[in-house]
Amino acid sequence: MEDFINITPVAASRIDQVDFDNLAFGSVFTDHMFVCDYRNGAWERPSIVPFAPMHMSPAASVLHYGQAVFEGMKAFKDDTGSVWLFRPEQNGKRLAASSERLAIPQFPVPVFLSALKELLTRDKEWIKPGKGNSLYVRPFVFASAAGVQASAASEYRFMVICAPVSSYYGGEVRVKIADHFSRAPQGGTGYAKAAGNYGGQFYPTQLANNEGYQQIIWTDAATHEYIEEAGTMNLFFRIGDTLLTAPTSDSILDGVTRKSILDLAKHMDIQTEVRPLKVAELLAAQKSGTLQEIFGSGTAVVVQPISGFGYKGENYETPLPKDSYALKLKNALMDIQYNKAEDPFQWRYKVCD
Ligand SMILES: Cc1ncc(COP(=O)(O)O)c(C=O)c1O
Repeated sequence: MEDFINITPVAASRIDQVDFDNLAFGSVFTDHMFVCDYRNGAWERPSIVPFAPMHMSPAASVLHYGQAVFEGMKAFKDDTGSVWLFRPEQNGKRLAASSERLAIPQFPVPVFLSALKELLTRDKEWIKPGKGNSLYVRPFVFASAAGVQASAASEYRFMVICAPVSSYYGGEVRVKIADHFSRAPQGGTGYAKAAGNYGGQFYPTQLANNEGYQQIIWTDAATHEYIEEAGTMNLFFRIGDTLLTAPTSDSILDGVTRKSILDLAKHMDIQTEVRPLKVAELLAAQKSGTLQEIFGSGTAVVVQPISGFGYKGENYETPLPKDSYALKLKNALMDIQYNKAEDPFQWRYKVCD
């Protein structure tokens, strides 16, 4: 693969200019990026080049019609200096599924994996060891063809950029359950990691922020009765001793962390249930005292306990219980990611030593 990729290394690394103790999430990028263009019906020879701004036509289709999809994953360094990814083939497959939904040509999963391996090996000094430190990896594809016809473009660009991170959210997270705005309708693009799904959330999220909530819990667009997911996290509810999560659907992203948590929970003898959950059931569980905890799951946060929620002007507290499933599952998952525990599911993927 290395021979197949055109490589232009940086003249001098920027790593010495970076304060790794004070990283704002996703704002500093590593020395290199991966680029592969799609033209004349095929993906061309890819390259790894210094991270830099790029030229684009103001008529580039993505700027007008939002034909773009992306992924989010993390690379970890263990105590011996080896670098690992977590289930990257899942992200490769999901990028392909997202691409299909947006009429974007699919980037082959084996090349996706080789791209990550080559790029991360080159920039491995940017991955710091220690639990909580990682490299956020952002693969994405967008319509690069110049032209404002409202139809699928003829040219695309696949890229990977990487940002060193420590942890995503500081402090407590309170959420608002949506009763008016929607993230994704049935038959829409909700299951795809399409750029527009995110752009459409910013305004309702800003309104929720102004009311003191960090994120929104999205409900089904048709009735607002069923809980779906948060802006960038799937959701888990512990009612009694059962861990509940909504089934994935065409309006919910099939999170890699979510499916890993379901497997891990079963492995740890935690009872799980995957079924639709009504807001009314959540409120009833809160009132009767059977709602033990709520947490979100996602690549960026791994597991994020949710300390309270708001619904139709009322606030409800959900403090972390003593024997929290959230923390147990977070530790178990991170131990696998950082090569500190057995990997019974073979989720770790070796990038380099
Ligand atoms: C809408 C949405 N739901 C859920 C997730 C969690 O998915 P994963 O665990 O694959 O990161 C994400 C983030 O990637 C997301 O953007």
